[in-house]
Amino acid sequence: MKWRSGRVVTPRVLPGVLLASALVCSMPARADGPLPNNFPILNKAGTAATFSTAGFVDLHNLFHVSQGSNGRSCQSCHLVHAGWSVRPIDVEIKFAFTHGLDPIFNLLDANSPTADVSTVEARHASYSMLRRGLFRRGGNLPAPATRDFDITAVDDPLGAGGSVDTQRIEAFRRPLATANFHIAKNIGWHDQNTNGSGNVHAGLANQVAGNITGAQQGVPASPETIETIVVYDEGLRFAQQFVFGVGLLTSCGAKGGPENLSAQTPVNGRFDLYDAWIGLAPGSCTTVSADKKRAQIARGQELFNNPNPGGGSCRGCHNAANNGSNVNGTLFDVGASRPEFRKPGMPLYTLRNKTTLAEAQTTDPGRAIRTGLWANVDRFKTPSLRGIVARAPYFHNGIAASLMDVVRHYEQALGFTFTPEEREDLVAFMEAL
Ligand code: HEC
Ligand code: HEC
Repeated sequence: MKWRSGRVVTPRVLPGVLLASALVCSMPARADGPLPNNFPILNKAGTAATFSTAGFVDLHNLFHVSQGSNGRSCQSCHLVHAGWSVRPIDVEIKFAFTHGLDPIFNLLDANSPTADVSTVEARHASYSMLRRGLFRRGGNLPAPATRDFDITAVDDPLGAGGSVDTQRIEAFRRPLATANFHIAKNIGWHDQNTNGSGNVHAGLANQVAGNITGAQQGVPASPETIETIVVYDEGLRFAQQFVFGVGLLTSCGAKGGPENLSAQTPVNGRFDLYDAWIGLAPGSCTTVSADKKRAQIARGQELFNNPNPGGGSCRGCHNAANNGSNVNGTLFDVGASRPEFRKPGMPLYTLRNKTTLAEAQTTDPGRAIRTGLWANVDRFKTPSLRGIVARAPYFHNGIAASLMDVVRHYEQALGFTFTPEEREDLVAFMEAL
């Protein structure tokens, strides 16, 4: 099996394509051709698919081709079959196939920049965070005169590299999905590529340029290369398409799936994808059991849309209609960086406000890394929630293993309250996004 370019198909791409082909063998997908729009790819809840405004998903775009010196390409960390992100299982499979020598395993994303990667055992230990789908990312705080706070202590169990001396933060982060940018305002977990401008095209270009010289260790890319990748990114829409026990998310009047998402404009509004399923009488559309599940998804949608008795609403922040990003590009603190949610291996930083002398502890201060503003500590972008079930674990640091864990996090951290049945409804809704 070969690409048009003559490159042998590697295990990096194959499992997802095979899985998908096995699922729908009648569709006209060729292992060496483009991926047709709406091509179903299996996940825990059903299938999700990509719809590209280009008419098909061009797996030969430079996104999928190494641009640097270390063998990595964008698809090393943004996989079509993992919702354009990468899951721990994808990293584990790469480790198993290559004994930890696949290009994704690079000192840049080892637990520490000085980790031992000389033997397979050493690599297994040194890439323990990467095997959980977490990438080491960092930055120095702005100059003292322009920042509100200092880093006064660092507890860095793996030697990730955060430092009081250099006022540097290093943290472990999840890759964001490279899709649904037609309804985005921020690029990067702490808006580092858009940096408050809301200019997504420019933010994507910054991201590509920085990635090619950074993560891919290449020479600076040409403007044409950057534009080719950015335009490709901008055309991608990703969403759940089919749910087990229900069927297509466009059935019985619903408006789910990636093609409908592609037609969605960036406006402030509630989710209305499943309005046709609200209170659906069992057996009135298809089978009793499928209609019950449809009604459940619609109940979850309304739990998401409406105010919660605990105060606040999911939609209050995730307010871009039928997408769930924030329509103004506002960043929020949902408590994911709090010390009580810290997992093994994560660094812990103590920050001190230079004026009030107030102290805060955080595993990753988010937006404040870039702005140096105390008010920005622990704020992160509000990501698109479409196709979310394909790319667990969740939050910038992967602390929520499942969508149920996300719901429980909001109960613990932000005071939301749900009955056990409501939790299931909300998860069923998110699995249909
Ligand atoms: C080594 C892994 C890796 C590679 C290679 C990689 N990325 Fe990423 N990508 C990440 C991680 C991790 C993040 C989240 C980083 C953050 O914001 O802190 C990310 C974030 C992004 C975002 C931000 C999305 C959003 O919703 O804000 C875009 C866009 C993106 N990557 C595109 C690309 C493109 C295009 C390439 C190739 C030029 C690429 N990535 C290569 C790991 C990678
Ligand atoms: C205060 C604003 C706010 C509220 C309220 C809120 N969210 Fe979020 N949500 C965010 C932000 C910001 C993130 C990213 C936070 C991070 O990673 O640190 C996020 C992340 C998520 C994610 C994970 C996304 C990913 O790619 O990892 C899910 C799922 C989610 N929210 C669902 C919900 C649900 C369900 C509710 C209601 C129970 C809710 N949110 C309430 C702002 C909010």
